[in-house]
Amino acid sequence: MEKLTGLEKIKTVVFISGTGSNLKNLIKFSKIKKSPIIIELVISNTIKAKGLSYAVQNNIEKQIFNFENNNTIENNILKILKKKNIRLICLAGFMKILSKNFIKKFDGKIINIHPSLLPKYKGLHTHKKAINNKDKFGGCSVHYVTSKLDSGKIIAQKKVKITAKDNLTSLAKKVLRQEHKLYPIAIQKIFN
Ligand code: GRF
Repeated sequence: MEKLTGLEKIKTVVFISGTGSNLKNLIKFSKIKKSPIIIELVISNTIKAKGLSYAVQNNIEKQIFNFENNNTIENNILKILKKKNIRLICLAGFMKILSKNFIKKFDGKIINIHPSLLPKYKGLHTHKKAINNKDKFGGCSVHYVTSKLDSGKIIAQKKVKITAKDNLTSLAKKVLRQEHKLYPIAIQKIFN
């Protein structure tokens, strides 16, 4: 990842699909002095994403795209990102798969947060898998996005203990709390 020069902040877009607690957390982080990023845009694949309200509350531009017609939509997004001089894409609960072409255009500049200790449990239902397998630890990872799902280089991880009392809800809650700590740490790591 390119290094920061002077006081300039990295213009960032966050892609979401749902609740947006990570978006909320990244917005909060972006406002502190030591944050290397400024969030210029929030993109969602659905108007139903609750997280869009955080963009509104914080006066951040939001745009909704129907990713079904992938190529055209992605090309339009690439044009917008170029025009806005966006240099970092943070995926935060974004449920669509970006094309190889899109990822190539932003090579090394797309990162994602995933609710497992990668390379364990790529894809969906990570907490269910961890509980069913009686894992002692769960956790979350921030990684670079490549065309192979949840397989890019890991930037940072946080572990949580899974106890006998844990169920899906409690584990998801514990991991999400760690996600909110991890994403800012990973971003700082990239630019330092
Ligand atoms: C998080 O668990 C994240 O790791 C996963 O999707 C969830 C999004 O949560 N990719 P939120 O929308 O940020 O609250």
